[in-house]
Amino acid sequence: MKIIDLGASSSVINCFMAQLRDVNVQGNRTLFRNNLKRIAHAMAYELSRTLAYSPKAVQTPLAQASVLTYDDRIVVGTVLRAGLAFHEGFLDVFDGADAAFLSAYRDEGKAEDIKIHIEYIAAPRLDGSTFLLVDPMLATGGSLELAYRAFLSKGTPAKLHICCAIASRQGIERLQRAFPSDDVTLWAAAIDPELNDRAYIVPGLGDAGDLSFGEKI
Ligand code: PRP
Ligand code: URA
Repeated sequence: MKIIDLGASSSVINCFMAQLRDVNVQGNRTLFRNNLKRIAHAMAYELSRTLAYSPKAVQTPLAQASVLTYDDRIVVGTVLRAGLAFHEGFLDVFDGADAAFLSAYRDEGKAEDIKIHIEYIAAPRLDGSTFLLVDPMLATGGSLELAYRAFLSKGTPAKLHICCAIASRQGIERLQRAFPSDDVTLWAAAIDPELNDRAYIVPGLGDAGDLSFGEKI
C-alpha cells in the first residue's frame, strides 16, 4: 500500500485541519462539515493527478478544443454517517462518479472490546472501477477494512484509493497488512501517533459523526 500524507507539506489543507481539530471552533457544525468538504476537494485534486487521461474533442462557440479528461470509471464509497460530508466533497470534484454507501458502527467501550457492525450496503457494480473509499477517521482501521470486504460483494475494483482526513499509525499498519499491494493508495491529510483506551485518535479531533450531526444515543 502506498501512503500519501498531504499534511506533511505546507498547504491550505493544514489550515482546514487546524479548524477541524480546534475545540473552540468545533461548535459550528456547518463549518465542521464544510472543512471536511474542503479537505476532500484538495485531496480529490491531488488524487485526480493519478488517473488515466486521454484527449477529448470539445466544441466551444468558436472552434473545437482538445481537452485531456480522465477515463477512469470512478465510484466514491463511504461509511455512514461520519463519512457523509467528506463524501460530498469528493462528489463535488468527481461530478460524474457513482456513489456507494454502507452503514457501520462501532460499539462504544474499551478498545479491545470494540466490534463493528455492518447492516446496510447500497453500491453500483464495482468491477473494473477506480474505487475511492472515503472516511474522515481511520482509527483502528476495523471499519474501513470490513467496509471494503463488504463492498467486494458488489465486484472487484481495478484500483483502490482509501481517503481519510486523519489516520492513526495503528490504523495504517492494519491496512498495510490487509492491502499489501501497490495498487492500493492511502491518502491522509494528517497522520496522528496514537489511539486512547477507547480507540479514539490522539490528538485527533474527537467524534467526527457527533461533531457533524450531533451526539447519538
Ligand atoms: C467513525 C469513522 C469511521 C470509524 C473509524 O465512525 O467515520 O467509520 O469511526 O473507526 P475505526 O477505524 O476504529 O473502525 P463512528 O463509528 O464514530 O460512527 P458515526 O459515523 O455514526 O459517528
Ligand atoms: N471515530 C471518530 O469519530 N473519532 C475517532 O477518533 C475514532 C473513531
